[in-house]
Amino acid sequence: MKNVLYIVWTDNNKLGIPIIDEQHRGIVSTINSLHYFMQTGHGGKIIKPTLITLQQYTDIHFRTEEALMAEAGYPAFDEHVKLHKELMDKTRRLSVDANKYEDPIEVLKFLKGWWLAHISKEDRKYAPFITKLAGT
Ligand SMILES: [Fe+2]
Repeated sequence: MKNVLYIVWTDNNKLGIPIIDEQHRGIVSTINSLHYFMQTGHGGKIIKPTLITLQQYTDIHFRTEEALMAEAGYPAFDEHVKLHKELMDKTRRLSVDANKYEDPIEVLKFLKGWWLAHISKEDRKYAPFITKLAGT
């Protein structure tokens, strides 16, 4: 069980935009690391720094996506940014409250569900607009 990844990243998760795919992978990797530490009994010490890392990296990632969407003139930009803001607020709250969780597995479930749904549904909508841009 300790060596089983919580989220298995496959080519099906890719959008074909190298920097975005790389960042998504980084986010999944951070969530997997949190899961790993929980499985090995070290979740208590690691949850706060990991959630802070996730919050900071999520911010970097959303800035990247939003800059590319703006550059591509993505028509549903505002709706997409609204989803990002909601998740940023939630991620910030998760990191502030990190030491209070009785059941951190619920945090993992939420993060896994949000990210996989967002990448496969919402991000997939903007992908064709951005792949048309040169140099991505
Ligand atoms: Fe997004």
